[in-house]
Amino acid sequence: MQLFDDLEDFGSFDDVVSGDVRDPYTELARIRREEPVQRIELSMMPGDDTKPLFIAYRHEDIAQMLRDNETFSSAIVLQAFGDVLGKQVMLGLDEPDHGRHRALVSKAFTQKALAKWEDELVGTVGNSLIDKIVAKGSADLVREFTFPFPTQIIAGLIGLPRDDFPQFQKWSISLLSFTVNPERGKAASIALEEYFAPILAERRENPQDDLISRLATAEIDGERLADSEIFSFLRLLLPAGVETTYRSLGNLIFGLLTHPDQFEAIRADRSLIPQAIEEAVRWEAPLLTITRVATRDTELGGVAIPAGSSVMPMLGAANRQEDRYEDPDSFNIFRPARANISWGYGAHVCLGMHLARLEMRVAMNLLLDRLPNLRLDLEGKDPHIRGQVFRSPTALPVLFDATPR
Ligand code: HEM
Repeated sequence: MQLFDDLEDFGSFDDVVSGDVRDPYTELARIRREEPVQRIELSMMPGDDTKPLFIAYRHEDIAQMLRDNETFSSAIVLQAFGDVLGKQVMLGLDEPDHGRHRALVSKAFTQKALAKWEDELVGTVGNSLIDKIVAKGSADLVREFTFPFPTQIIAGLIGLPRDDFPQFQKWSISLLSFTVNPERGKAASIALEEYFAPILAERRENPQDDLISRLATAEIDGERLADSEIFSFLRLLLPAGVETTYRSLGNLIFGLLTHPDQFEAIRADRSLIPQAIEEAVRWEAPLLTITRVATRDTELGGVAIPAGSSVMPMLGAANRQEDRYEDPDSFNIFRPARANISWGYGAHVCLGMHLARLEMRVAMNLLLDRLPNLRLDLEGKDPHIRGQVFRSPTALPVLFDATPR
């Protein structure tokens, strides 16, 4: 498929980024029970003062640390991703800079602000992707639907011309693969900034009804976002808004197609779709872990943490905690509603959650409307969710009753 030409073998890309691990959960559950705040020694030699690494596995400990963002700083994100995303990226800012930045961008992501995009953009993109497969009777929904869907929506939201979508998609893939190929990731990061710069300048002159104009003109108490902050934010939308959403949508489709009774239930009653989305995001967090650094000597779950240590909340483990969710490993859209931690928590809680939910809801409705008798194609194929950091199916081969466009 042309979309992935730029990245010769998407399968091996995903192996490198995610690891071909089908079930990390058995081991995560064991550690969560035995050592809920795990200390891992990183120092190699006596006298080496490299700090240990800590991993938090329980919901309560994770919520506590994400609430206390003075002690558990996000600055470590800049060390890891600053070269590619930019040094002003909000995900790596602490207060008060983070709060100022978030206030300036957040208006564009409220449910109310997003409502207008539902048909105009999200539905249009979804329908145009389904138009390409509807007459075929078979498809790989990852390559042909779940990946291009959020990429094109982010491009549309930003306000990029439709003709530029293919190029934007290529830069997106390069940026998202930066852990595998940092040079290529950095080149895409620079190319994106050079591409955005004249569009930003133009929108400052002639604001339109799009995200880039909102960012250019947003103002609180006379404060505005600097251009470098805007570029960092726009780049962040690729890993934060595309990678997570395409993976979650794949997990949702996989969960439903492997549980035909639940799939039939949402077909019969579309009002179940929101709870199916929440369950998919709990069951298979697209991103198993995030990261913080301790700014002072502290303690979490009774474990002493020295200043300067990295502390990683293992979101995927907390989402399958037996004392929060009954039979936590099963996919069950009918389980009692209880918040999951896949969206993060505290000051940096996902800014795009309403958009992600909107995208997944529209996508599921369109698949149900337009691909009758949708089912997994298991003939000689073995679709499955995998990954140790990011999780999703690499392919979703499906069959359906072909209909003319
Ligand atoms: C199912 C889909 C998604 C999941 C599971 C998800 C998950 C997360 C998580 C865990 C965080 C917190 C990171 C941290 O605290 O270090 C986060 C932050 C963020 N997400 Fe999402 N996300 C999703 C979709 C989106 C979408 C569609 C957008 C697009 C606009 C988006 C934009 C952001 C941004 C900008 C932040 C940073 C917020 C801040 O630093 O204050 N996310 N997301």
